[in-house]
Amino acid sequence: MNSPDFGRITPEIIESLGDIVGLDQVILDRFDLEPYSHDETEDLEFFPDAAIRPSSAAEISEIMKICHQNNIPVTTRGGGTGLSGGALPVYGGIVLSTERMNRIIEIDKENLMATVQPGLITHNLHQAVEAEGLFYPVDPASKESCTIGGNIAECAGGPRALKYGVTKDYVYGLTCVLADGRIFKTGGKLLKNVSGYNLTQLIVGSEGTLCIVAEIIVKLIPLPRYKRTLLAPFDSLEKAARGLTQIFMNRIVPSAAEFIERAAIKAAEDKFEKKFPHSDAAALLLFEIDGDREDVLDEQAEKIGEICLAHDAADVFVADNPEKQAEMWQMRRNIGEAVKSIAIYKEEDTVVPRAHLPELVEKITAISKKYGILTISYGHAGDGNIHCNIIKKDISDDDWNNKLPQVINELFREVVILGGSISGEHGIGWVQKDYLPIALSDVELGLMRSIKKVFDPKGILNPGKMLPS
Ligand code: LAC
Ligand code: ZN
Repeated sequence: MNSPDFGRITPEIIESLGDIVGLDQVILDRFDLEPYSHDETEDLEFFPDAAIRPSSAAEISEIMKICHQNNIPVTTRGGGTGLSGGALPVYGGIVLSTERMNRIIEIDKENLMATVQPGLITHNLHQAVEAEGLFYPVDPASKESCTIGGNIAECAGGPRALKYGVTKDYVYGLTCVLADGRIFKTGGKLLKNVSGYNLTQLIVGSEGTLCIVAEIIVKLIPLPRYKRTLLAPFDSLEKAARGLTQIFMNRIVPSAAEFIERAAIKAAEDKFEKKFPHSDAAALLLFEIDGDREDVLDEQAEKIGEICLAHDAADVFVADNPEKQAEMWQMRRNIGEAVKSIAIYKEEDTVVPRAHLPELVEKITAISKKYGILTISYGHAGDGNIHCNIIKKDISDDDWNNKLPQVINELFREVVILGGSISGEHGIGWVQKDYLPIALSDVELGLMRSIKKVFDPKGILNPGKMLPS
């Protein structure tokens, strides 16, 4: 799928790239390129012509000068765990992998900031700062293999976004490389900073389309001392969603409030051959509360329990020992993989204002019935962020091809009517870009296209992504 507008990678270009990073860091062999040809998005596969593994901003800059001059597309890749095809080199060219740039440069305990490289695995940052009694709360389900750079590209969230926010809430400074190789810095270890436009926040969530992030400053906070995990089974999705709304009305903000539909729990039980408590319920709510005082947590746990029972929860199960808690969260993190293993699927990352969650759940059920197509939902109910998986089970290829775009269109239109948007944390990437006009106005899209041109006039950075064709 090479676009005629892009240049070809010649042996001379390969030689020049090899001079920058060493030839062993330039991958050309098809077998070795396979890991760079896909991420975790459906069964999509696009091979790059080459993959390159730089070790510094200076090397990235030199690589970009060559690619810019020769009009070569460059797709930056972190852990390859993306769910919207952001790291797929859809026009070939080069995949620039940050895998060697995986260090923590500094944990600054005075300023409560860490400086890290983009290829750092998110969980490695968690462990390093937690050893110091500090906390980097952003915890995507793929935390053990995703990277901070990838989290920045998609503005990753995860369960704890509910209380602590998403990636953008922690990124305070960036060192970036432009498409033409120029290096620039934004922000710093500054909690206050209104010096010009906020380029840092523009780059977070820009899906590798504006520049390549080479170094990152993130904010840290003190690690809460105690946690509780609670599980409540409900006999209907709507009741679970309504119960959740009441918890916030009682001024309790859990650190996580997850929602799992029965079919998703069953899929995880089948795939991992493990039993989940109350797995026959129509829906489970899984909560985490955290803080520094056990008596406050106990009070909150009791109140959450009362509210769930008042909304017909069959029971409320409290996991207060770390092993049981870890087991339940591990199961939750595996749900996505399990649901996807059922059949061909399309995953949507709908998000609405939290109070509209019950209506979103009702709409999903109605659309599923109307089209006779299976949907399985789970996700971050506390954020109004539901991962709705549309599953190709028991329907023909023709039916699937015909109905799928209609289902997605209808779902996204309903989401927008509810004041929501078409992606909460997975990004638009390759697979959602043609739906973006449902969520954004022509004015917004026009501004975004203009911004893209300023950063990357030749359109070589992650081409084919985010903005509709
Ligand atoms: C999750 C990923 C799919 O919440 O976002 O499991
Ligand atoms: Zn999620």
